[in-house]
Amino acid sequence: MATFSCFHILFFVFIITSGVAVSATEFTLQNSCPYTIWPGILTGNGGNPIGEGTPLNTGDSVQLRAPPGWSGRFWARTGCTFDASGHGNCVTGDCGGVQKCTGTGAPPVTLAEFTVGDKDFYDVSLVDGYNVKLGIKPQGGFGDCKYAGCVADLNTNCPNELRVMDPHNNVAACKSACAAFNKEEYCCSGAHATPQTCSPTNYSVIFKKACPDAYSYAYDDETSTFTCAGANYLITFCPT
Ligand SMILES: *[C@@H]1O[C@H](CO)[C@@H](O)[C@H](O)[C@H]1NC(C)=O
Repeated sequence: MATFSCFHILFFVFIITSGVAVSATEFTLQNSCPYTIWPGILTGNGGNPIGEGTPLNTGDSVQLRAPPGWSGRFWARTGCTFDASGHGNCVTGDCGGVQKCTGTGAPPVTLAEFTVGDKDFYDVSLVDGYNVKLGIKPQGGFGDCKYAGCVADLNTNCPNELRVMDPHNNVAACKSACAAFNKEEYCCSGAHATPQTCSPTNYSVIFKKACPDAYSYAYDDETSTFTCAGANYLITFCPT
């Protein structure tokens, strides 16, 4: 009899834990920018796409569901024009001239990166540069579940030598020092390819100062990786 009830308890625990594991993670992408954006969405682990990159007007949002174990990234594409067949280009974040991204967005882009599982990992990364402000807000869930974001306008603070201009001669994005100068100390490559040999640089500190919660260079893990379990996520482009 004791064995029987023990079995029931174990069975009950199994249902609860597997119930958490099989529930999808919901992402809400919200455009608070004063212009239309085309979200870029890329699934990282060979899984099926979870979204299409349809335009989001100011104030609009879209909800996407990711299966357990999903990993991937979101970014904003700006200044896009596409023809009826879905071909065209974007001033920032372009993913190969197509509306439905199947590849990465051309840097510089601010990235929201996720790996979802029993415990989700998420971060905002400026390692590939910056184009728009971006915030990740867990909804529900348990654990640390902190807000992650880069809510400063880095285009205004962008050093001249890193600036990407739009056709109207406004700063559209801010390159990483790695992309601008292709040097090992900026790219954490070659002799600087380990956490011990790649340090913040005079450029990455500009990014870190503006956005303390975001990755400013490849090994900036300490202050830039966030975790939460069982949450859904609100990703806001241009949070105020
Ligand atoms: C960063 O350091 C490099 C090399 O010393 C220098 O050429 C560059 O002007 C510096 N940039 C900034 C923004 O401080």
